[in-house]
Amino acid sequence: MKAIQVAKLSPDLSGCEFVELPVPERKPGEVLVKVHAASLNFPDLLMTRGEYQFKPEPPFTSGMEFAGDVIEAEADSGFRVGDRVMGGAKTGGFAEYASVPVRSLRLMPDGLGYEPAAALGAAYNTAYTALVELGGLQPDHWVLVHGASGGVALAAVDLAKSMGAKVIAASGSPDKLERIAQLYAPDAVIHSEGRFREQVTEITGGTLCDLVCDPVGGDIFDESTRCVAFGGKLLVVGFAGGRIADIATNIPLIKGFSVVGVRAGEYARRFPERGQRIADEVARMASAGEIRPAIDRVLPLSRWRDAFKAMDARQLVGKVILLPGS
Ligand SMILES: NC(=O)c1ccc[n+]([C@@H]2O[C@H](COP(=O)([O-])OP(=O)(O)OC[C@H]3O[C@@H](n4cnc5c(N)ncnc54)[C@H](OP(=O)(O)O)[C@@H]3O)[C@@H](O)[C@H]2O)c1
Repeated sequence: MKAIQVAKLSPDLSGCEFVELPVPERKPGEVLVKVHAASLNFPDLLMTRGEYQFKPEPPFTSGMEFAGDVIEAEADSGFRVGDRVMGGAKTGGFAEYASVPVRSLRLMPDGLGYEPAAALGAAYNTAYTALVELGGLQPDHWVLVHGASGGVALAAVDLAKSMGAKVIAASGSPDKLERIAQLYAPDAVIHSEGRFREQVTEITGGTLCDLVCDPVGGDIFDESTRCVAFGGKLLVVGFAGGRIADIATNIPLIKGFSVVGVRAGEYARRFPERGQRIADEVARMASAGEIRPAIDRVLPLSRWRDAFKAMDARQLVGKVILLPGS
């Protein structure tokens, strides 16, 4: 089968290859899936460099998220041959076949195609965990979402709008903001280079934001500490900008806000019932058309390098999908 293999860690994808590999052998407790569509997530890129918190030993097959058909499963797995499934483990998805633990798969919601199904879980489950589960999102809340063109952030914009909140989408690119406005009609958009606290103050009529969703970190985090309302929450989702910010603890004290660490995957592992509820609700909302994953482009697996480079160069608005079968 065709697969994207990380043969060695490299800063520039030079250690990654499009290779022919044997179909993985299904181990006990796993389900073998024929992958129809896989989506790229930022951690996939970080893992090629050895910069993600999970550090698999090369060689490994890249790809943490996909949708496809069950080829082989144990009788008591809850899955049958031919079931349409989505999910994925931390690796293995950028291939024609993937064998992953039973618990990391779920049936695709009714009415959803393979491409949106492959784009759903990582982004929307993370956004839901951040905004709803940990943030306590309410319909009257002001929500500021940074790096809004990214997979997780764009899902946060979609989700928050769908749940009736007032959303400010912030991005480093004015062009991308136009596209985000077309996709999800946030209540306001801001260009987040430099200072943006005055804009947030003006947009919210001085109340500032109940929730700030930050997958970028660095200067964006620093400036965001001036944008959270008293009693609000600054949700730390990631560090796509590359710098992990420091915060003087007098700032959240004086301004009366909380800094909340979001680790969606670990949250679902530690609290499986809550994780299940989150995934169920995301699947229900997708099936009902209440949320719609934005797909920037769809490429054959052989063009994996273009996909990774587009993500690295911040060219995407939403997800990029790789098709192993074409
Ligand atoms: N906490 C969790 O549970 C969890 C789960 C999944 C992912 N994450 C983390 O969340 C972050 C986003 O993941 P993702 O899959 O949504 O990634 P993504 O699709 O690549 O989005 C990242 C966005 O961050 C913004 N950005 C700002 N500075 C950047 C820089 N120097 N390089 C790249 N992007 C930059 C860009 O938005 P603009 O151009 O619009 O500004 C970009 O679209 C990553 O750090 C990832 O590890 C965390």
